[in-house]
Amino acid sequence: MTASYSLTDLPAFGALQALALDLKSASIQHLFAEDPARASDFVAQAAGLRLDYSKHLLDRAARSTLLALAEQAQLPQKAQALLGGGEVNNTEGRPALHSLLRASSAPGLEDKFAEVVATRARMRHWADRINNGEQRGFSAEAITDVVNIGIGGSDLGPRLVSEALKPFQGDIRCHYVANVDPADLQDTLLDLDPASTLFIICSKSFRTEETLTNALAARAWLTRAGAHAADLDRHFLAITTNLAAAAEFGISGDNCLPMWDWVGGRYSVWSAVGLSCAIALGWEHFEQFLDGAAAMDAHFASAPPADNLPMLLSLLEVWYGNGFGAGNHVVLPYDQGLARLPDFLQQLTMESNGKRVASDGTALAYDTGPVLWGSAGTMGQHSFHQLLHQGTRLCPVDFILPLTTHTGMAEQHRRLVANGLAQSRTLLVGRSVEEARDSLLARGLSSDEAARLAPHLAMPGNRPNSVISFAALTPHSLGALIALYEHRTFCSGQLWGINPFDQWGVELGKEIGVDIFERMGGAARTTALDAATEALIAQWRQHQH
Ligand code: F6P
Repeated sequence: MTASYSLTDLPAFGALQALALDLKSASIQHLFAEDPARASDFVAQAAGLRLDYSKHLLDRAARSTLLALAEQAQLPQKAQALLGGGEVNNTEGRPALHSLLRASSAPGLEDKFAEVVATRARMRHWADRINNGEQRGFSAEAITDVVNIGIGGSDLGPRLVSEALKPFQGDIRCHYVANVDPADLQDTLLDLDPASTLFIICSKSFRTEETLTNALAARAWLTRAGAHAADLDRHFLAITTNLAAAAEFGISGDNCLPMWDWVGGRYSVWSAVGLSCAIALGWEHFEQFLDGAAAMDAHFASAPPADNLPMLLSLLEVWYGNGFGAGNHVVLPYDQGLARLPDFLQQLTMESNGKRVASDGTALAYDTGPVLWGSAGTMGQHSFHQLLHQGTRLCPVDFILPLTTHTGMAEQHRRLVANGLAQSRTLLVGRSVEEARDSLLARGLSSDEAARLAPHLAMPGNRPNSVISFAALTPHSLGALIALYEHRTFCSGQLWGINPFDQWGVELGKEIGVDIFERMGGAARTTALDAATEALIAQWRQHQH
C-alpha cells in the first residue's frame, strides 16, 4: 500500500532538496550582505509577537519554494479544516477543537461552543469562590492552597502558565504534582495544611495510573488529618470526561468540570484543565490568556503563508528536518518565567509528531518530528551552548525573548536580553581560525601557541536561529505564544502527512508497567519476561525489607 499523500511527492519537494544542498555551503552573513532588506523582510508579526527568521540558511528562492510547498500541501485549507471542526484526528474519528476553547463565537459549532461557554462560567465560579475565601475546608478554614494532580497535558500546560505568569498571581498558591514517585506529592504536601488545601484531580480519562495513585494518597492525607467522606467536596475538584470514575472516587457532579474527546490533553490548557491557572491568576487574566491565543488563531486562519507565523515556523522545521537532516530543535526562552516552556513543547511537538506512519497507516520514507530540547537562558550558556556553537550537529534554535521585565530591575534585565541577542549573533557570525589566532596573539601568546590553540577557539558560526520577541510576558502574549507552537505543530504534521492528534505510542509501556507492577507484587504470569527485566526484578526484591 502506498500513502495517498507524501511530502516527497509534492512538486516543490525535489526543488527544495536541491536548494538545501546549495544552501548547506552558503554563508548566512553573505546572504545578509547580498540582500540589504533581509533584516526587515525575513520578519513576520502577529498577535504582538515578532518572528525574525533572517538568521537562517534560507534565501528568497528557497523561501518562495517553501511557500509553494505550503500551498501544495494545502496548509491554508488544512488550517480552515482544523479551526472549522473537521475530523483532523482521523485515527480516532474526531475534530481537534482546542481553538474553540478560546473563541468568542463559533459559527457552525454552536452546540460545542455552548458547552465551552457554560464551562467557562463554572471555571469562573470556582476561581472567584476560592479567591473570595468562600470555599472552606473540613474545619471551615478558607482554602489557601490548590494542588493540581495530573500528568502530561493535565499538568505541563497549567504548570507552565502558573509559573510564567507569577507576576499576575493573586493570594491563592498553586502547586503541581505529576510524578508517581511518592516524593513528588510528599515534598509538595510538606508545607501545606490539609484544612486549607484543595486538590484538583485533572485527568481527561480519570484512568491515568500516576494521577489516580497520587489522588488516593492525597485523600488519605486529608483523612488522616480529620476529613470525612462527606468532606471530600470541600477539598476536591475533578476535571475529566469520566464523571463515573470521579464519582466513584468521591467527587460529586457539582465539583466535576468537563473535558471533551475533541480536545487533546496536550492542547487542553485553555479548557477546565487550566482551572488552577484561573484560580491563581484570577478570571480576568485567564480571559486575557484565552484572548492572546484567539488572536493567534485569527492570524493563523487568515494570513497567507508568507506572513503566517505558525506556517513559517513549520516550514523551517521541515526545511531543516527533511532538507538538512537536522534531528533536533532547540528552544531557548530568555525569561525565567518560561523555564518550563521546553518541557511543555516537548509533549506538544513530540507526542504530536513523533510518528512513523502516515495518516493512512503506510510507513513513511522520511523523517518526522525532531527531538525538542532547551532551557531558560542564560543557564544553558554555561552548559550545552558549547555544543550549539562548536558541536558537529545541526541544531536550529528558537530564541524566545520578552523585552521587558516585571521585576522592576530593568538594568539587570538588560543583561538578560543582551545575552540572548549575543547568543543569537554568535551562532550567526562565529569566529574564524584567523580571528581566534589574532585574539590569542593579542593576549600575549607566542605565535606557535596561538597557532596550536586557534582551531580550538574557532567557531564556524552560520548556525540557524529564529528570534521570537514581544513586549512583555503577559497573559495575552503567553496565550499567543502557546497557540503559535500549537499551530506550528499542526502544520508540520500536515506537511509530513501524519495525524498529530493521537498518541498510541505511549500505551504499550503503560500496559507493560501494570504487568511488571503485578509481577513485582508476586502475581503469577504464564508468559516469561525477558531475562534482563527478570534480573532487575530479582535485584529489586533483594532490596525490599
Ligand atoms: O500517556 C499519555 C497521555 O495520555 C497524554 O496524552 C495525556 O496528556 C496524559 O497521558 C494524561 O492523560 P489524562 O489527562 O487522561 O490523565
